Amino acid sequence: MAKQEDIFKNVVSHAKEYGFIFPSSEVYDGLSAVYDYAQNGVELKKNIREYWWKSMVQMNENIVGLDAAILMHPTTWKASGHVDAFNDPLIDNKDSKKRYRADVLVEDYAEKIHQKAQKEIDKAKARFGDAFNEQEFITTNARVIEYLAKEKEIRERLGRSLGAGDLDDVKALIEELEIADPETGSKNWTDVKQFNLMFGTKLGASAENAMDLYLRPETAQGIFVNFLNVQKSGRMKVPFGIAQTGKAFRNEIVARQFIFRMREFEQMEMQFFVRPGEEMKWYEHWKETRLKWHLSLGLGKENYRYHDHEKLAHYANAAADIEFNFPFGFKELEGIHSRTDFDLKAHEEYSGRKLQYFDPELNENYVPYVVETSVGLDRMFLAVFATSLKEETLEDGSTRTVLQLPAVLAPTKAAVLPLVKKDGLPEVSRKIIEDLKWDFNVAYDEKDAVGRRYRRQDALGTPFCITVDHQTLEDETVTIRHRDTMKQDRVKIAELRGIIENEVSMKNWLMKM
Ligand code: GAP
Repeated sequence: MAKQEDIFKNVVSHAKEYGFIFPSSEVYDGLSAVYDYAQNGVELKKNIREYWWKSMVQMNENIVGLDAAILMHPTTWKASGHVDAFNDPLIDNKDSKKRYRADVLVEDYAEKIHQKAQKEIDKAKARFGDAFNEQEFITTNARVIEYLAKEKEIRERLGRSLGAGDLDDVKALIEELEIADPETGSKNWTDVKQFNLMFGTKLGASAENAMDLYLRPETAQGIFVNFLNVQKSGRMKVPFGIAQTGKAFRNEIVARQFIFRMREFEQMEMQFFVRPGEEMKWYEHWKETRLKWHLSLGLGKENYRYHDHEKLAHYANAAADIEFNFPFGFKELEGIHSRTDFDLKAHEEYSGRKLQYFDPELNENYVPYVVETSVGLDRMFLAVFATSLKEETLEDGSTRTVLQLPAVLAPTKAAVLPLVKKDGLPEVSRKIIEDLKWDFNVAYDEKDAVGRRYRRQDALGTPFCITVDHQTLEDETVTIRHRDTMKQDRVKIAELRGIIENEVSMKNWLMKM
């Protein structure tokens, strides 16, 4: 089995074993692509959400929050284009009877070619060391040039065919590239067909009077239909933003890869309303700002890249993804879209109400243009969790599993451990917890030898272990152990809050942006 697959399997089993993520309704054998966040997962997820919210809403005077309902008037989805155009191109394999997204089959093929080029680059890097000039190598090495040109050609053709709705050409591309069913190797494909991703539901007590509704496939439309309410009640001046986090639902056809592609998931979206004509300036601004936010978490610059879209969604005049190096390769983590005035104009048209802003500086009314940033909370979780999970070999040859989560996101910030379960040490430990719990999530653990307790906290991602021993009773000092270095310092109990705060405060992390 490939190493990547091993790493990914490890991520999934660690998430379950240590109480981060469980399959939904597991007693009934689960529900495909639906997951529950367990006691530690819910804390990590909450911290990621808060880290995003603070950077968007608290740190920007001109961005405010919103929590719109999941159920919306059904005309919303007609106006937004989702009823007519929120489709995925599907293809079935006639032999295996398996169903795939045709675009994903082609994109995975293109990514494999990219990986071949990357392998050549990595090999040369290892050979030439510090003297290696990557840019020069990419533009002069014949093999790399060939791989990258092929990748570009495939991606561009896919973009063109999807953009033009030419599904026959998507099938032709799959056949020309000789793409096989990833599970069986069969190349016996059906034609490509469109499939709408929205989940339908009904509102109302009786079948005759029930109204057909959809579970929202994105949170963004709740922001658009509230644009004028927020602008007026908040006396907001363009440019301004509305931020929202919440559940979205998509009947994904190929729901694989754990929490990467789910049927029920959470988005963190911000719509930034700007003057028409200024959208490209703001698009560049948000593209850069959002990457800085990701980088502030310290998961490694090399794990991110931009992917500028060839194929634009029906509402966009520019779009880019921030891709992350997941255990199964680079994939979309966040989308930044210049959505023009498409959504507000469409809601004006379908509702018959004006959704315009009076700009006092220009002395005119207009429908603002919108730049959107949209990141999946579950994908953020997976990026952070998978990258942080490490298997380390220690100096004495033993190994440890450590979840090196950014301390600001860790579910529990410190565990307090009495060295033994007697002599008053548990009581002192409880007193320390009573004091720290006002500011931080802290845990108590007295079971097993202290070394095993350290390992357990390492696997949970807890940045600090505080050990109370007999010396504590004499001089009010404890040892504080740092998760990543395993270094232990003897400090006064009164210093603990300051030490923890310094490592976990959102301010210190966000200031790295
Ligand atoms: N409002 C724009 C929008 O919804 P999108 O690219 O379809 O754009 C935005 O989705 C983000 O939502 C993606 O970058 C991804 O992180 C997340 N996302 C989309 N579909 C998802 C799914 N099925 N499961 C988990 N996250 C998903």
